[in-house]
Amino acid sequence: MRTQVAIIGAGPAGLLLSHLLAQGGVESVVLETRSEEYVAARIRAGILEHSSVELLESAGLGDRIRAEGDHHRGIYLQWPGERHHLDFMDLAGRSVWVYGQTEVQKDLIKARAAQGQEIHYEVQDVALHDLEDRPFVTFTDKFGQSQRIDAEAIAGCDGSFGPSRNAVPAAEKYEKIYPYSWLGILADVAPSTDELIYAWHPDGFALHSMRSATVSRLYLQVPNGTDPQSWSDDRIWDELATRLGHGQNGWKLTPGPITDKSVLPMRSYVQTPMRHGSLFLAGDAAHIVPPTGAKGLNLAIADVALLSRALVAQIRERSSALIDSYSEDAQRRVWRCTHFSWWMTTMLHTSGDPFDAQLQLSQLKWVANSEAGATGLAENYAGLPIGY
Ligand code: FAD
Ligand code: PHB
Repeated sequence: MRTQVAIIGAGPAGLLLSHLLAQGGVESVVLETRSEEYVAARIRAGILEHSSVELLESAGLGDRIRAEGDHHRGIYLQWPGERHHLDFMDLAGRSVWVYGQTEVQKDLIKARAAQGQEIHYEVQDVALHDLEDRPFVTFTDKFGQSQRIDAEAIAGCDGSFGPSRNAVPAAEKYEKIYPYSWLGILADVAPSTDELIYAWHPDGFALHSMRSATVSRLYLQVPNGTDPQSWSDDRIWDELATRLGHGQNGWKLTPGPITDKSVLPMRSYVQTPMRHGSLFLAGDAAHIVPPTGAKGLNLAIADVALLSRALVAQIRERSSALIDSYSEDAQRRVWRCTHFSWWMTTMLHTSGDPFDAQLQLSQLKWVANSEAGATGLAENYAGLPIGY
């Protein structure tokens, strides 16, 4: 078969790219190794930046975010004995929305289905060929048939384990593995806070997030290699209560039934360039951030906003300026978010070193009490404009 853009991966990057390309009059075919049900149910990120929401709205995908998402003006930053609210609207004029990646994914699947988008789920053996001349992709479809797609461009939106990133020869790779992980839970209980709490504690970092008025999402810093089943529900709630400051100034953490428990390793990874011939990388295929800055999903959306415009200009108007600068344009934001995510991570996670702990507390106090410090965090967390 033949199409204009072959997209590998039906995560948020791949599906949003196919949507934006269709709006620009460019056709695509999407390949995905997992099933539609699996992709729609994966529990991942929960925060949308201001510019991500603007982009989704301008693409006709904002109705449910407005109706069911939760608008947050800022976050709480805390350490033992103190909790500070940072109001991003006051500090930076922008805000964030709590709207789960699962919901973004469902909205995208529905929008693509309504337009008859060709998506091949449960494919295997995906391979990229002839990227510098006449690019094509081969794969085995879910019925066991060998298939080939010829395209003008290939978009590698296949995350950190897909084949696209390794199809860029001689790429520069930058990586940092952190010496801790997150134990994440989803619980059927109303959040005990109106906005997210990022808590520094000598026992380790804790985060109180949420998915809706009745579902809470919480995280604990744990050692690498932790087995989630080694933490009983009671132990998790006790540790969350300690680290989040249950009883501090009358605040209470309400526990509830845990419906999901998992451990997430933390790493930073950037690969450059994000292009090789007719292959373009977007989202986790090109970069990974630790989740402390809530940037992974937002970076994928920002990449695809740039890439869709560039591909439409290239394919429809034979104008190559945007496609030629895509990698450099995307990487400006990638490195900004990589730094911000590293900064949030290293400011909030304890390492056991008392000197580091004092530096972290000094930094947190400065961020919370100085308008300049708070504005820096607010500007980066609420997100820079697409194309920054
Ligand atoms: P993905 O969502 O990974 O999508 C890539 C798709 O490609 C997948 O559907 C995959 O199945 C498919 N694929 C892989 N190989 C192939 C192949 N060979 N052929 C075809 N398709 C293939 N970010 C936050 O901000 N906060 C969080 O709390 C958070 N939690 C996370 C938890 C986990 C377990 C993970 C992995 C990530 C988390 N992230 C979080 C990051 C965020 O979810 C990602 O940045 C976001 O999903 C990136 O979207 P993407 O489309 O680039 O990649
Ligand atoms: C989440 O709700 O899953 C979430 C929120 C903020 C983060 C990371 C994860 O920084």
